[in-house]
Amino acid sequence: MLKKNMIVEEAVRENPKVMSRLVELGVEYDFIALEELGAVLESENIDFDEFLESIGEVQFEDMDRIYKMNAEEIVNYIVNEIHPYELDLVEQIDELFRKAIKKYYRERGEQLFVIYEVLLLIKAELVSHFASEEEYEFKDLLAGKDVDFENLLAEHEKTIGLFDRIKYLTRDYKMNAEEEEVLELNKLMETLDVDTRRHIFIENEILFKM
Ligand SMILES: [Fe+2]
Ligand SMILES: [Fe+2]
Repeated sequence: MLKKNMIVEEAVRENPKVMSRLVELGVEYDFIALEELGAVLESENIDFDEFLESIGEVQFEDMDRIYKMNAEEIVNYIVNEIHPYELDLVEQIDELFRKAIKKYYRERGEQLFVIYEVLLLIKAELVSHFASEEEYEFKDLLAGKDVDFENLLAEHEKTIGLFDRIKYLTRDYKMNAEEEEVLELNKLMETLDVDTRRHIFIENEILFKM
């Protein structure tokens, strides 16, 4: 995720579109490569959020609040709010898939089934991953122990890969349909996708680095 206080060079490494977009906007890259991205945009009167949007960067919500939290507050937020919310959402999606597959079996059974299979992998992954975090890593972290996050990081990557797969299969959550259940599936899966990517970002980039 790009941040205002990132050096432009670093931002380009994270998202190469930063460079092409800056050039498009008439900024001479060589002069500003070592300056902070936020400051460069401000001096050019370019809105940071609009800039991010123009290069396809998702902006996670409510991050200023998270950056101010300590480790215990972040763990509580994740365990009490994010984990239950995502488990509930994945359950709702699961139910809706079963309903839609049954109802539209002839027209869409096969298409829905391929996506449903990936969704079930995500569901299983989340259930087991959250259990491990809550029972082991987070407890150890709060007890001040040295925690090895390698497993969790690998699972995060796997989960993102599964969401990328669903994103591809649904053409970016735009399954072409008139059936209300299918439209609702687009919406709920996209919500879960964005929430999970934000959740993983909070853990990988903030909590695990504390
Ligand atoms: Fe988590
Ligand atoms: Fe996690």
